[in-house]
Amino acid sequence: MAVSWKYANPVEVTFGASAVSAIRDKVAGRSYCLLTYNDHPYFDEMVAAISSEAGVPAVVVRDVEPNPSFDGLRIACRSYGTAASPPEVIVAFGGGSVIDTAKVLAAAGGDFARVQAFLEGRADAETLSATPIIAVPTTFGTGSEVTSWATVWDTEIKKKYSLNHESLYPQHAIIDPMTSLGVPRALTLATGLDTLSHALESIWNVNANPVSTNHAVFAAREILDALPKLVEQLDDVDLRTRVARASLFAGLAFSNTKTSLAHSLSYYLTLHHGTVHGIACSFTLSAVMRSVIGQNEACDAALARIFGGDLSKGVEQLEAFLTGLGISTRATDYGVTHENWIAAIDDALDGERGRNFISTRAAVLAAVA
Ligand SMILES: NC(=O)c1ccc[n+]([C@@H]2O[C@H](COP(=O)([O-])OP(=O)(O)OC[C@H]3O[C@@H](n4cnc5c(N)ncnc54)[C@H](O)[C@@H]3O)[C@@H](O)[C@H]2O)c1
Ligand SMILES: [Fe+2]
Repeated sequence: MAVSWKYANPVEVTFGASAVSAIRDKVAGRSYCLLTYNDHPYFDEMVAAISSEAGVPAVVVRDVEPNPSFDGLRIACRSYGTAASPPEVIVAFGGGSVIDTAKVLAAAGGDFARVQAFLEGRADAETLSATPIIAVPTTFGTGSEVTSWATVWDTEIKKKYSLNHESLYPQHAIIDPMTSLGVPRALTLATGLDTLSHALESIWNVNANPVSTNHAVFAAREILDALPKLVEQLDDVDLRTRVARASLFAGLAFSNTKTSLAHSLSYYLTLHHGTVHGIACSFTLSAVMRSVIGQNEACDAALARIFGGDLSKGVEQLEAFLTGLGISTRATDYGVTHENWIAAIDDALDGERGRNFISTRAAVLAAVA
């Protein structure tokens, strides 16, 4: 870890308040776009509750896909553009897909072509607009409420992009653990594992600093303890609160470091095999951890705070944690051939997130392949 470092995150976080009244306070009479899903009755109820408390939205956009794609985002931008005048703020009520879609709407201002041109390197950041965002997560895992980027996919050419700009940090993050009470087991598991991945990925990361690492250690310890209990007791408010807090801390950690190899590897599986994000970015964690042991003193010290001094045992503990939750740690169980997986590892190490990784190709191949 570098001797000199800096840490910054500009998002104002409100934790534990009722989401609806906190949205009212933060909207504070501004005209707003309300963005949420259209695939669950809970979100119909919440659109009604937010509209009655915070005022009728300038526009309600409900075209949100699980992994936002160019085609879907074009449609969402068109819906956004139907507001009589441009909204002053966007309220994103939902998980990572909703918050990431909000970032695209904030940058596109109703015209997706602007964002597409920026992503494809044909336009610079000055061409983007910057509508403020109030992010209200309803799944606790992605941390998107405290990061300045959004993952978007061009499914036609099977390419993943990261829309990234300082102006995309939400203005406010409102974290009410009660919003996640109805999240089913599989999604609770996937999002909780996404948090664990963010925490560990910010530790084995060339951009790690003492603040990000401290947040990450807390988040990882909490997930290792609370997630297995939560998936057995989905209505436990205390466990929901602990996982929500862990997700926030992991988000604050990787907001400064970005992710690393496990996420870089995940994009291949999501694009080619449809593996959900939280599983795709976490099933390799024990193997990736094996490849970092002994590579970097600060990383070893941080992992020891999570797993204890014997890091080889820690790898076994992490592997047992994953398999105990029903997550196979073998890539071939996700439909990829061994040969394609080796090629995917090389691509992942060369990818933008892979270049944040602290270990070597040889160590990775020995551990992950
Ligand atoms: N920008 C970032 O920093 C960042 C980080 C990690 C992941 N991501 C992105 O986040 C996305 C994944 O987000 P996610 O895992 O939060 O899921 P999601 O937003 O894709 O939602 C998945 C499903 O969960 C349901 N759901 C959400 N909240 C619910 C609730 N309270 N009750 C019942 N159902 C609910 C939705 O209806 C939806 O069908 C991916 O696109 C990923 O790339 C972004
Ligand atoms: Fe993630």
